[in-house]
Amino acid sequence: MKPLGPIPPGFTADEGGHLLIGGRSAEYLASQNGTPLFVYDTARIADQVARFRAAFPSEAKLHYAVKANSYAPLLDVISKLVDGFDVASAGELERVAGLRLPISFAGPGKRDEELEAAIRAGVTLNLESQGEADRALATAARLGQTPSLAIRVNPPFGLKGAGMKMGGLGSQFGIDHDRVPALVRRLLDAGAGWQGLHIYAGSQALNADALIELQCETVALAGVIAEEAGASPPHVNLGGGFGIPYFARDEPLDLDAVGAALFKTLKNRSENLAPTIFAIELGRWLVGEAGVYLTRIVDRKISRGRTFLVTDGGLHHQLAASGNFGQLLRRNYPVAIATRFAAEPQEEATVVGCLCTPLDLLADEAMLPHADVGDLVAIFCAGAYGLTASPTGFLGQPPAAEVLV
Ligand SMILES: Cc1ncc(COP(=O)(O)O)c(C=O)c1O
Repeated sequence: MKPLGPIPPGFTADEGGHLLIGGRSAEYLASQNGTPLFVYDTARIADQVARFRAAFPSEAKLHYAVKANSYAPLLDVISKLVDGFDVASAGELERVAGLRLPISFAGPGKRDEELEAAIRAGVTLNLESQGEADRALATAARLGQTPSLAIRVNPPFGLKGAGMKMGGLGSQFGIDHDRVPALVRRLLDAGAGWQGLHIYAGSQALNADALIELQCETVALAGVIAEEAGASPPHVNLGGGFGIPYFARDEPLDLDAVGAALFKTLKNRSENLAPTIFAIELGRWLVGEAGVYLTRIVDRKISRGRTFLVTDGGLHHQLAASGNFGQLLRRNYPVAIATRFAAEPQEEATVVGCLCTPLDLLADEAMLPHADVGDLVAIFCAGAYGLTASPTGFLGQPPAAEVLV
């Protein structure tokens, strides 16, 4: 038997024992929308934003990282709750361009057309290299526009214990910190609209102390760069990296501790950061626990003593739950039988998808209530990096539906 990850708090069953999502039964949602289906609960997203606002200083603006989930109705809802969007491609930019919030655009390998689209739209480009800075300045000159340019800094430190480290190493992300002051000068001398710094060091951290240390180091680094450049950054994006519990024994992040520490860090910041506006950019922490992936069992079989529940979904929609999205060791996500949510676990079963590959594993040797063909499986923590991070074209299976409740 292998343990399942923790189901996010607050999920309950209706009188028939069916999982409720946003007050609606999973079976009702599946019958209305078909399966496989991603359901996103608006109230949970709003709750996370409210928790952030309560815990963090108002000087820290909240940005949403569109890469986590770019479902248009969800973007619409979240645009009314956050202070800005961070995008990673011209495709994502298009999705949020009409939502009337400040946008910044980070990511290596921006093509000339993407630079042009961003400059035309007045979006802040987070420059990832000297070469990209050259191309952005040349594009702006050709268009006769003043570009909004920030510099993504490759910091000399990383986020300790992060699921994904993006700092402290040689990297395609950002410009090495010791080269940043000279580039700031160059942008200012060129008459560009210098917007400040973007310092993103990692993702999926559950340890508050690691995030507190990182934010402290990040603010200090911004102060040193400002000092060496002789200019105060109008904005400093402090990154994010707030994680959610996916696996057994994961503990939720102590948000209040991180917020309280940032109050202190910002209070004690250097003089040259006094006018700076700070931002935290979050994806999975805002939307991850709000999403449930529902997939229906199409076959039940016993093979050499093992029970397999074969579903109509799989890794083509929910790659991360299969363990193939950056995990070193495969572990089970939180998974339940949605149509028997009130029942006790009775048997060890392995839940698989419909793809013809052994990688398509949704829950391995998990204790679950007895389930049969027609039952629904719920995979929790599916609101972030579900469809945006899955190989949807693989093996020609139908797309998943999405619905916001
Ligand atoms: C630059 C940048 N911003 C934001 C994010 C979002 O991270 P998360 O969804 O873990 O908050 C990432 C994730 O890789 C990133 O690279």
